[in-house]
Amino acid sequence: MAKIQIINGPNLNMLGVREPSVYGSRTFDDYLAELRQHYPEVQIDYYQSNHEGDLVDCIQSCGFDADGIVLNAGAYTHTSVALCDALRSVSAPAVEVHISNVHTREDFRHHSYISAACRGVICGFGLDSYRLAIEALLAAQ
Ligand code: DQA
Repeated sequence: MAKIQIINGPNLNMLGVREPSVYGSRTFDDYLAELRQHYPEVQIDYYQSNHEGDLVDCIQSCGFDADGIVLNAGAYTHTSVALCDALRSVSAPAVEVHISNVHTREDFRHHSYISAACRGVICGFGLDSYRLAIEALLAAQ
């Protein structure tokens, strides 16, 4: 059974409430249940934290065991060398995901510290960005 680890960073626990015009009005738990139904043959593990070091710990602990990591690092995308280094430290391929199209937003969202450590990047497709990332990881297996 393929094992995919989804990791959400800061403020992504607020999906459904947070800026619905940007991120939609659905909670991640609701979406995750649908995603798991869509991939009954895949073990989809989920972790969310608002703390950078906890995200590093999660990458380190799943990164040799999972077949792929789907990472939405939220605002840490644009600031975190530590997450870049963590991704480079493990063997599992990662896909960077964003719900919004960060390139149509403020300039500070245009740069990512983690893209270079990822297999690819998917952004701008709403929550469906996560499914697209799983598809890409399964296709690359
Ligand atoms: C985000 C985009 C980031 O710029 C922002 O800080 C987030 C969410 C997205 O999914 O669109 O928290 O990663």
